[in-house]
Amino acid sequence: MVYSLPILPAEAVNQAEDPARVPEDFGLTYDPARSEADVLTDGFGRRHTYLRISLIEHCNLRCRYCMPEEGLDWTPPEHLLTDEEIIRLARLFVSQGVTKIRLTGGEPLLRKGIERIVAELARLPGLRALAMTTNGLLLPKKLDRLQAAGLTQLNISLDTLRPERFEILTRRKGFEQVLRAIDLAIARGYRPLKVNCVVLRGFNEDELLDFAAWTKDRPVEVRFIEFMPFDGNGWNDAQLVPAAEMRARIEARYPLEPIAFDPHGTARLFRIPGHQGRLGFIASMTEPFCEGCNRLRITADGSLKVCLFGRAEVSLRDAMRRGASDEELLALISAAVGRKHARHAGMYNLARMPNRPMITIGG
Ligand SMILES: C[S@@+](CC[C@H](N)C(=O)[O-])C[C@H]1O[C@@H](n2cnc3c(N)ncnc32)[C@H](O)[C@@H]1O
Repeated sequence: MVYSLPILPAEAVNQAEDPARVPEDFGLTYDPARSEADVLTDGFGRRHTYLRISLIEHCNLRCRYCMPEEGLDWTPPEHLLTDEEIIRLARLFVSQGVTKIRLTGGEPLLRKGIERIVAELARLPGLRALAMTTNGLLLPKKLDRLQAAGLTQLNISLDTLRPERFEILTRRKGFEQVLRAIDLAIARGYRPLKVNCVVLRGFNEDELLDFAAWTKDRPVEVRFIEFMPFDGNGWNDAQLVPAAEMRARIEARYPLEPIAFDPHGTARLFRIPGHQGRLGFIASMTEPFCEGCNRLRITADGSLKVCLFGRAEVSLRDAMRRGASDEELLALISAAVGRKHARHAGMYNLARMPNRPMITIGG
């Protein structure tokens, strides 16, 4: 099936040298006079206040939509950022206006010494939220210490409510542990506890209503995510369930009341009357939300990615290891942010364009 989306020529977005080439139908205007001194504001006036840091490439699951079936050539440990490098970069970004950091991976809870990293980041003046995306397997062991260290928000990934499917999708056991992690995070007061659910045609699309029912007595925000193409994940549009279709399928059974959402957020939010929890739909492919993008990413090997779907990267690790001063790092970051494009290339182009496997970006 081919969706009727505006398919932009790939050279108009993301891949082009010149970010000023804005697609004509797009609501952002490029400012050629952008000041390099405004490090985290791009040429379209988007201020980047949200940084996602991948702490590790390894994961204790092998989700089919995330990790290439044939495995990966893992980056040697000495090429990954050290704790001190992570803390230095976080401090630098927060000094320029970042107010929220999310720790991700791979599986961030596999990172040794994560409690100290959380504690150091949590005390950065100006940081308002320190979040983590995790598969939850190690959370029961670590949550109390992480919470005490300053972890304020949690997303736990769970794509199915059926144990046998969990094992097929993740190529590992652990379903019950994830449910325990979700209950524990709720008990520890994480609100809303976000649950990330990638919806795949022919695999878990028949669980949309089960997840909706699951929010009745749980204060969770189930976020249904469209399947996105990354290197080695076998993406094809036949497996993508558009968010509009997900919503329609749920609305056939439950009324959905829209809730106000953060204009920079990725999810459009709804509540079912009488349910404690709520539902979110993340339509990165069929209804991209690039115009409100305020996100930057640092990979575990220290590359800054200004767009999840762009292959452009600048290695802050290499710069730090060459002895770059903070001012030199800021100049590099500013130049990269200044090259950010108006929007991503559209799913059909993305499926053809090289990027990293998701497990080495961090979502
Ligand atoms: C890459 S994982 C890393 C953090 C952690 N290991 C976890 O499982 O949450 C971060 C998020 O990316 C999502 N994700 C990975 N590959 C994806 C894809 N191809 N399309 C949509 N979401 C994806 C996962 O479902 C997860 O919620």
